[in-house]
Amino acid sequence: MIDLDIQTAGSTIGLDESLHKYLLSICPQEHAALFNLRQETAKHSMGVMQIAREQGHFMALLVQLMKAKRTLDIGVFTGYSSLCVALALPPDGEIVACDVSEEDTLVAQKYWQQAGVIDKIDLRLAPAIKTLNQLLASGQKGTFDFAFIDADKENYAEYYELCLQLVRSGGIIMIDNTLWLGKVVDSSIQDQETRAIRDLNKKLQDDKRIVLSQLPIADGVSLALKRI
Ligand SMILES: C[S@@+](CC[C@H](N)C(=O)[O-])C[C@H]1O[C@@H](n2cnc3c(N)ncnc32)[C@H](O)[C@@H]1O
Repeated sequence: MIDLDIQTAGSTIGLDESLHKYLLSICPQEHAALFNLRQETAKHSMGVMQIAREQGHFMALLVQLMKAKRTLDIGVFTGYSSLCVALALPPDGEIVACDVSEEDTLVAQKYWQQAGVIDKIDLRLAPAIKTLNQLLASGQKGTFDFAFIDADKENYAEYYELCLQLVRSGGIIMIDNTLWLGKVVDSSIQDQETRAIRDLNKKLQDDKRIVLSQLPIADGVSLALKRI
């Protein structure tokens, strides 16, 4: 069994290993399905894409605080973020979960099933921009309480604009990886993904449509509360 408490991937940026281990030791216990899913994802070649455990607790708290019922998960991978949210939603809660990988979302479905929340999750296997536009076209503007953006970074700005339309006033958009392992402050790094994140961070700072909080949890999380 992999020691998930000393696994450095998916931890909070800037915390050394011993402090991260301590943080996890004082976190609430994980649901068994979440633990099992982390075990399986730790063996995946792209397992580092999974959100940090402490971030999952925070997302669960947030959706409960908001009394959220309808949420979006953009970038499912093996399902950790969606499972955290699904477990926190009421029995009639719903997640529209977007991804393009059949293989990885098969793993997600296994653990959604194990946790008894699969009926809350509407998985859409298609480019997320297409799915979000379909939701808008079918009259779902302003009907979501919460959205989590964690797919391809190049499309983050577009996901944000579409989520701003889909989320209700007072709803929250959470954007993942906004510190991007520190690459955002290294001016020699000019790849498309890093530039997309820098650009979005700048845009969020000046965006009057939202109330913004930039949090240094996990790989950086931006919280945008929709004003209008
Ligand atoms: C960082 S991972 C998501 C991690 C996930 N939130 C978790 O908690 O484990 C990013 C995911 O975005 C998906 N993705 C990449 N491009 C996409 C696109 N255009 N539309 C939808 N999903 C996409 C990838 O297949 C991958 O599973």
